[in-house]
Amino acid sequence: MKAMILAITVAVALLCAASFSTAMDDTGLLIKEDCTRCHGLGKVCQNLGKDLVWWESTVSRMQSRMPDLSEVDAANMAAYLAAPPEEFAKICQ
Ligand code: HEC
Repeated sequence: MKAMILAITVAVALLCAASFSTAMDDTGLLIKEDCTRCHGLGKVCQNLGKDLVWWESTVSRMQSRMPDLSEVDAANMAAYLAAPPEEFAKICQ
């Protein structure tokens, strides 16, 4: 019984980890797709490392010309760009 509970706990933990990392990747992909419609990724890459406040205001400025971008996606993008994972920083090099 204990082993069963342990197995379930591990499975749930793995599932959570998997869905979390998918969410990060999705945001990265969305940025690669949606944010390069008007300009290259260069504008984004140049500014990696700027803080969350800067990204929130920049993404919301972009969002005003992107009627299909949801509030949730915009917020995710700003957070993602303020603290980009290594794999995103790599595609900028
Ligand atoms: C509808 C066209 C369009 C889309 C889509 C778009 N941008 Fe832009 N972006 C612009 C234009 C035009 C400029 C230059 C004028 C400006 O800064 O507002 C710009 C400038 C920028 C800059 C430079 C700002 C600065 O102050 O130096 C960044 C960073 C940027 N965009 C990021 C993004 C991100 C992130 C996305 C996706 C959420 C995005 N853009 C999507 C049109 C767009």
